[in-house]
Amino acid sequence: MRKILFLLSGLLMISGVFAQNTLLVYYSYTNNVRSIVNELSNHLDVDIVEILPAEEGLRYEADNYAIGSALISAIRDNPDDAESYPAIKPVDIDFSRYDNIIIATPLWWSNMAAPMQSFLFQNGDEMGGKNISLIVSSASSGISSVVADAKRLIPEGNFIEEALWINNNNRSNMPTLLEAWIRNIKSSKHMTEKLSITVGNTTYLATLVDNRSTQALVAALKESPITYKAQDYGNFEKVGSLGRTFPTNNEETTTEPGDIVLYNGNQMVIFYGTNSWSYTRLGKIDNITVDQLKNFLGDGDCTITLSLSSQSVSGFADTAFSLKGKGVGLGTNKYDLQGREVESCGTGQIYIQNGEKWMKTDK
Ligand SMILES: Cc1cc2nc3c(=O)[nH]c(=O)nc-3n(C[C@H](O)[C@H](O)[C@H](O)COP(=O)(O)O)c2cc1C
Repeated sequence: MRKILFLLSGLLMISGVFAQNTLLVYYSYTNNVRSIVNELSNHLDVDIVEILPAEEGLRYEADNYAIGSALISAIRDNPDDAESYPAIKPVDIDFSRYDNIIIATPLWWSNMAAPMQSFLFQNGDEMGGKNISLIVSSASSGISSVVADAKRLIPEGNFIEEALWINNNNRSNMPTLLEAWIRNIKSSKHMTEKLSITVGNTTYLATLVDNRSTQALVAALKESPITYKAQDYGNFEKVGSLGRTFPTNNEETTTEPGDIVLYNGNQMVIFYGTNSWSYTRLGKIDNITVDQLKNFLGDGDCTITLSLSSQSVSGFADTAFSLKGKGVGLGTNKYDLQGREVESCGTGQIYIQNGEKWMKTDK
């Protein structure tokens, strides 16, 4: 059996986000994830690392899954305590070599399999600012808690594309699903311009995907900001007409909180919950929790203003300057572009400290 397999191979020239170095980290107990990884390595040139539990020969499924469920319960009870995570064999990864990381993991008791959680608990901070995508294999359970585990353990990760979910119903179709998913991540390009979304006195930035719709939106916003009225719908979204029509590229999409999509070509939808429908994906609000989203969008109707923020140094200097005027960002504490205090920054993240702009360059 393969132990830790580390393929240092020449990189394919691929367009889009995954043109750069890609690391695939996986854990597999009964070989389902391993089969997915084997298939994936036929399509993407990646360096592969396998996570192995320190204790060999454990039968997680014995006694009605007693060992597996005890491991997951320990993490659920104390997710911030290193002692809650089962030991894994050491892995030595130079994360600075990678822009993209694919995590492939089984689901255990609705959560991410415990050994993969151990790996991310130990290394998640090193993955800040990287493009992260997830492959999850389960028998039948839905994977939203696994996605939440990944986001908890890689708080500064730039999660791209929807996680690929392989289960017993679609497993025989895995090669086709995997190929389509890889096609999507290869084209998950992000625009350099950030979308600035303002409600009342609060502004959040969003990362835009790169497609014909966002290109048209950026062109329109370069002319002037767009202000529109939005309403709640379905207890999961704020939707409103942009007053003009943009090109669409609709596809069946399951949204997450923070996602921004175009509906019917002329309506912008910002999600604070989830929904599955045919939308054109526009982007996602950066680093925002569901509670912050709900506070930001408020109850009932609201007025939203969209503009562009290039996140260039000069654009940033303006933000730093206006925040300094409000007394925000002075002293040793760090603040993000919206003037919210941040405890730690991922590589490449821009922050304000003592009224000056900084970019985190190294760990
Ligand atoms: C300890 C343990 C708990 C599991 N819990 C669930 C579960 O709650 N729901 C589910 O659909 N599958 C569950 N499974 C099944 C695995 O998610 C599924 O078989 C997966 O494909 C295994 O991937 P692997 O073969 O790479 O280990 C569990 C498996 C184990 C070992």
